[in-house]
Amino acid sequence: MTLRPKPTMEELTALCKRRGFVFQSSELYGGVNGAWDYGPLGVELKRNIREAWWRDIVVLRDDVVGLDTAILMAPAVWRASGHLDNFHDQMVDCKTCKKRWRADQLTTDRCPSCGNATLTEPRAFNMMFKTAIGAMEDASSEAYLRPETAQGIFVDFKLAYQTARKKPPFGIAQIGKAFRNEITPGNFIFRSREFEQMELEFFVPPEPPEEAMRWYDYWVGARYDWWMRLGMQPERLRKTPYSGADLAHYSKATTDLEYDFPFGWGELEGIAHRGTFDLTQHVAASGKDLAYFDEESKEKYLPAVIEPSLGVDRALLAFMLDAYERETDRTVLHLHPSLAPYKVAVFPLVRNKPDIVDLARRVELGLRPHIRTTFDDSGNVGKRYYRQDEIGTPFCVTIDYDSLSGNDATVRDRDSKEQVRVSLDMLEVHLRTALGKI
Ligand code: GAP
Repeated sequence: MTLRPKPTMEELTALCKRRGFVFQSSELYGGVNGAWDYGPLGVELKRNIREAWWRDIVVLRDDVVGLDTAILMAPAVWRASGHLDNFHDQMVDCKTCKKRWRADQLTTDRCPSCGNATLTEPRAFNMMFKTAIGAMEDASSEAYLRPETAQGIFVDFKLAYQTARKKPPFGIAQIGKAFRNEITPGNFIFRSREFEQMELEFFVPPEPPEEAMRWYDYWVGARYDWWMRLGMQPERLRKTPYSGADLAHYSKATTDLEYDFPFGWGELEGIAHRGTFDLTQHVAASGKDLAYFDEESKEKYLPAVIEPSLGVDRALLAFMLDAYERETDRTVLHLHPSLAPYKVAVFPLVRNKPDIVDLARRVELGLRPHIRTTFDDSGNVGKRYYRQDEIGTPFCVTIDYDSLSGNDATVRDRDSKEQVRVSLDMLEVHLRTALGKI
């Protein structure tokens, strides 16, 4: 397959707004920087991305269980995890125009906005959102919105493995919101202040060390394959391993999966070998024993952790950019069928023939419980195809005059635009097979 040209971010954001994928949060009131709303189609695409991940990571495996932990956690968690002391960006303020910048993004000592050399020295800025629990606002009520979902998994590690009766190697997966007060949110939904993560903490025996490394390599490969299976173009996804000084101090190995965004290569997902760092921190801070006791070998140990972690919003952006194609007469989203908001659109050829409209309605209602469908009878058929192509619907079914006597319909393929005539008795089977083939 030939590589599709990259769309611009402007093209994609315009499509997102026009078709109801993503809107700016609180647009009515001028908007909130770094927060986004998902519209009727965006919410479907997002659900499908979560579903594809959960199915691959939890449903199809018997060595991973799920968890859903609270966003508000004991503040001691963030002390133990290092977020209170280390989760900082260095920022500088411009004394003239009052704008704030990330120190690592500045190339001169002048403010990029007003041009004055009136920048302060860099200061550490903690990225966690602070809030208060209960009516009193004092030190005892201090709390934070979680900056990652991972810590909920570490804190519940023992409860989860005991109740699920799992032993290492096994994993705990979680999908949920995370919050970071990013100094410079940007590139649409790539970097925001409120976003959603999908994280797996895979616990393995720390000895022998080669075994943990094997699991790390396994997860780097498995996660890359997931993106490929969902139709991502291989030229746009690369593995970037980190070494030496680029690694976090506790990490034994890290690989980022990076996507070639219109603004350059950017992290989509990180796979990190975190050693025993996180559990060791929570044992020390809580005074509780989190070691795993292996009944068979009578060994007691803190497992090492391999963590694949990605953002749902960033995945949605990458899938949409990757699927986007501007052809001479249309815009198409070549989304994988399992991600497409609607799998099938059903149309009556004309609106003013009750028999045709009734049959189209009945066909659509018959498919609806089995395949995600939509019904469209507005505008002419060409316009309806255009609309469905632009939102990535893999198949359109048109009920016409001949359908009334022939009990069949035209099925049109989004990518090839090819049309075939299919008996209504065989329609569901035909669509299921065709959807499975893409
Ligand atoms: N527990 C490890 C962890 O949180 P991270 O690299 O900070 O690691 C993991 O975040 C993933 O979460 C990233 O690869 C990215 O997909 C997503 N992510 C992080 N910060 C984000 C932000 N501000 N906006 C959107 N997605 C973000």
